[in-house]
Amino acid sequence: MKLFLDTANLDEIREIKRWGVLGGLTSNPTLIAKEAPHDIETYMKELCAEVDGPVSLETTLETADEIYEQGLGLAGIGPNAVVKVAMTAEGISAGKRLADQGVPINVTLVFSPAQAILAAEIGATYVSPFLGRVDDIASDGMYLLKEICEIYEVQGYDTLVLAASLRHPMHVVEAAKLGADVATMPYDVFSKLVKHPLTDLGLDRFLSDWNKLQKELKEGA
Ligand code: E4P
Repeated sequence: MKLFLDTANLDEIREIKRWGVLGGLTSNPTLIAKEAPHDIETYMKELCAEVDGPVSLETTLETADEIYEQGLGLAGIGPNAVVKVAMTAEGISAGKRLADQGVPINVTLVFSPAQAILAAEIGATYVSPFLGRVDDIASDGMYLLKEICEIYEVQGYDTLVLAASLRHPMHVVEAAKLGADVATMPYDVFSKLVKHPLTDLGLDRFLSDWNKLQKELKEGA
């Protein structure tokens, strides 16, 4: 399972890239707005240049024709750009035209297995079920992911399942167990993946024993 970062913040991207585990990036209009760039296109180019992997950039217009035109523009932003279209009739209509032309698309805001079937049928590269938002309304986001993974397996769909809206490390672990192709998560979830109190305690002990030995050797010399 590839690990993507869900952000538009360049410092966060650089930090996770430094770890050597950044498989790609997902952004959305809210995340871009949070960074308040002066020039959106230039900023998106920077995002694409910073990441060695697919970068999802979201369309924001309403009709299929508008989404299609905007999608072509977004696809031209970088060789690794992936065009995000929302799971609406207009979005998938535009998405199908883009996919037919070889533009990689990510169908976003997916909340049901039926929607995931539509995403696969239009030839999307990625389908993004939003697990955390399903949990937020007292439903089961992980069960949604399970159903989508099962359907895709049975049907032999090529569309990659991108588990999105992940809120904590166990979301990532469960998504991996269910066979998601990608997990995208915000920086704070990424940071929690690396942490364990026993690692910190163990390292403290190793270093303190090591330093004690060094001191003893120096004093004995
Ligand atoms: C994915 O592509 C979305 O940007 C993201 O995962 C949404 O997450 P949220 O529900 O935490 O906003």
